[in-house]
Amino acid sequence: MPVSEAMIAGLIELKWADGEGLATQLTGQLRSLIASGRLGKGRALPSSRRLASDLGVSRNTVTYAFEQLAAEGYLAASPGRRPVVAIDGGERIEGARAVGSSPGSARPRLSPWASKLQQTDWPMSYQAPLKPLRPGHGDAREFPNEIWGRCLRRSAVGAARRELGQVSRPRLREALAHYLAASRGVRASAEQIMILPSAQAALTLIAAAVITPGDDVWVEDPGYPGAAAAFRASGARVIGVGLDEQGMQRMPDLATPKLLFMTPSHQHPTGRLMSLARRTEFLSLSRPGKTWIVEDDYDGEFHYDSRPVPALQGLDAHGRVFYVGTFSKAMTSDIRLGYLVAPQVLVRTLEIAQRHIGLIASSHIQEALAEFIADGHFLAHLRRVRRLYHARRDHLVAGLERHLGEVLSAEVPSGGIQLVARLKRGRADQAAVKRLVEAGVVTRAISGLALGKPRDHGLLLGFAAWRESEISAAVRTMASCF
Ligand SMILES: Cc1ncc(COP(=O)(O)O)c(C=O)c1O
Repeated sequence: MPVSEAMIAGLIELKWADGEGLATQLTGQLRSLIASGRLGKGRALPSSRRLASDLGVSRNTVTYAFEQLAAEGYLAASPGRRPVVAIDGGERIEGARAVGSSPGSARPRLSPWASKLQQTDWPMSYQAPLKPLRPGHGDAREFPNEIWGRCLRRSAVGAARRELGQVSRPRLREALAHYLAASRGVRASAEQIMILPSAQAALTLIAAAVITPGDDVWVEDPGYPGAAAAFRASGARVIGVGLDEQGMQRMPDLATPKLLFMTPSHQHPTGRLMSLARRTEFLSLSRPGKTWIVEDDYDGEFHYDSRPVPALQGLDAHGRVFYVGTFSKAMTSDIRLGYLVAPQVLVRTLEIAQRHIGLIASSHIQEALAEFIADGHFLAHLRRVRRLYHARRDHLVAGLERHLGEVLSAEVPSGGIQLVARLKRGRADQAAVKRLVEAGVVTRAISGLALGKPRDHGLLLGFAAWRESEISAAVRTMASCF
């Protein structure tokens, strides 16, 4: 029986926990409806907005499906119009082209890796205007650029005397080994420290080295989408694990995964600290050489209320933990430096992989950073901004209580650079984010960081990057929006 436009959403059944992405499921099911003739030639599909709302998925998911089917010739799409079915079921599909598209405009056939990259909104959805209260950053205006500039200059001048071909500069490895042992309780030799252009590069490298397509990877849900994206692209079945007061939950009912990704120091995005009991449980779950834990300590430098809790890596006696860090938050995000503390047994494999992929950070920058740390500038900078960010956190919390106490309740994190404010009425965080952006305040919806059906809602608000006057102005604007 032919299907009317209104019935289309009712015929689609998406499985949120399925290893296959929602966009792929939707594409496949629409393709089957057309190929079977149930959606006949000339039939208009609902708009992407309408179908997204009927199915409870993001509009990008529907747009992806429409674009893919247009490229395959199943749909005719033109800008601003609803897509129309372009073939009759049973027509030869091979070689069919979207009506109106020229031969050169056909979508190229992508590798499985690149196709998987298309299935998530990340990283494009992370591109938001740099305005208060955009989360995820420290304050680049507070970085001591004069001092850093002198370190860079000395590094450049000394370049001719340096040995070539070392992907991780020994001075920086040594400096980091000392810093991480003293400040984060990380137990590693300098040789285990790999310098990379970012934490994201570390995740890509880990995925390339240990994931076999089909492996289960557990990630926090809601969580950091860059991690889910990196592991999914490598072919893993990425499974979202909910949170409780102690952090990522233990999931006794699933087979042991190949890898667990977590942010135990400040869970991203909620800021929660994983309890010692939970850390120990996860360590006992992971089997040496078989189950890996990736600990992403992206903003562990910032703790305000108590002594920082040492890294999970320091509790591990069996080399099961990859410890990932970045200078994006502690310095500035465009410094483009991160690091990976690798389990000893994988150091050589990872260095070969690093050279293969070419994920190599500039030696000039590495040497400059080694000097910046050795001369005490890094710790001095951290001490200064830690005080500043602490005051900014308190300023934001006080402002939210005073002006928005009826509508929002802030979860005050013990550290980090951002906080979650829950909506007291309703769960429409995406609509709230949209309204706020229109008024000039940038926030992020927690439900947008879900892997499948959102379990959690709220607004992610950055405080570290914004001066108290900017925070006050943003809070007043927010109050006028709600
Ligand atoms: C939790 C988390 N991990 C890792 C990163 C990535 O850091 P990098 O800029 O070094 O790739 C981010 C950046 O926002 C993050 O929020």
